[in-house]
Amino acid sequence: MPMSRPRRNRVNAGVRGLVRETALGPQHLVLPLFVHEGPGAHPIASMPGHARLDLELLVQKSREALDLGVPAVALFPALADGLKNPRGTESLNASGLLQRAVRALKSALPELVVITDVALDPYSSDGHDGVVIDGRIDNDETVPLLAKMAVAQAAAGADVVAPSDMMDGRVAAIREALDEAGHTDVLICSYCVKYASGFYGPFRDALDSAPRAGDKKTYQMDPANVRECLREVRLDEQEGADWLMVKPGLPYADVIRAVREISELPVAAYHVSGEYAMLKAAAQNGWMDFDRCLLESLLCLRRAGADIIFTYGAIEAARLLKKA
Ligand code: PBG
Repeated sequence: MPMSRPRRNRVNAGVRGLVRETALGPQHLVLPLFVHEGPGAHPIASMPGHARLDLELLVQKSREALDLGVPAVALFPALADGLKNPRGTESLNASGLLQRAVRALKSALPELVVITDVALDPYSSDGHDGVVIDGRIDNDETVPLLAKMAVAQAAAGADVVAPSDMMDGRVAAIREALDEAGHTDVLICSYCVKYASGFYGPFRDALDSAPRAGDKKTYQMDPANVRECLREVRLDEQEGADWLMVKPGLPYADVIRAVREISELPVAAYHVSGEYAMLKAAAQNGWMDFDRCLLESLLCLRRAGADIIFTYGAIEAARLLKKA
């Protein structure tokens, strides 16, 4: 007979609950949403259940999330082609789509945490996160534009600005610009460790924001690397980031763990569009149970060390957690 029986700690639901090491709740989740001029909703084929929403539907969806205990949304604008240019100047327009969306949300749902993305790609006719000069993504031409974009978003009422562009030095520039404009309480969620990943495919469909030429490998990280993320973490800490993001999520669980271990800052993980699409596609084929695999994915991200999880499944997960 075995002396030691680990199975005793799994004997029934009560015991399993007592010894469970990781908790997942709706309070850990952020719901990313796509907004367009409208009217109505424009479904996103590769992300079943998600659509580009007009302002009215955006408020409705956000209210649904908030009522289920999901405290935050992250907004991404889908702009008409005519508004895009090489320097993404529409991002600074105080009455532009994103700024109006933030205002609509903060006036209807003041307690909702509104997170805005700071990067050029939805606004750029080149589809890159930075300014393209002679085929290169120019870091230092881009950073001042990002700082202005962050201030425009904060002025509209954003609680958290989230630079997702991976330009060097942008967190410091954004912090300085926000403080100068009086937005000392606006947080920065830095996409600190963002990989050049194929898992962003459905997102680029959602915004029609794929690069027109080339790829993002000169600014996003090489999926082969983990040591390199420690350097990004140190820099973002010095530059004043409030949260550190790792992205994508599950394939990079070891990276989440590495960041968790070297930093005291809250760590966010982004369960990205491709991860969500994989679960949906398998479920549609009857190959996997979406509900179960979604909750398992999110729990694993928490176990890896994420405090906060951005997921397109936030509403579905919150509903399931309420039932459980
Ligand atoms: C772009 C941005 C991307 C995502 C968030 N912000 C895509 C990219 O870098 O090409 C991806 C999100 C997802 O796939 O869910 N600044």
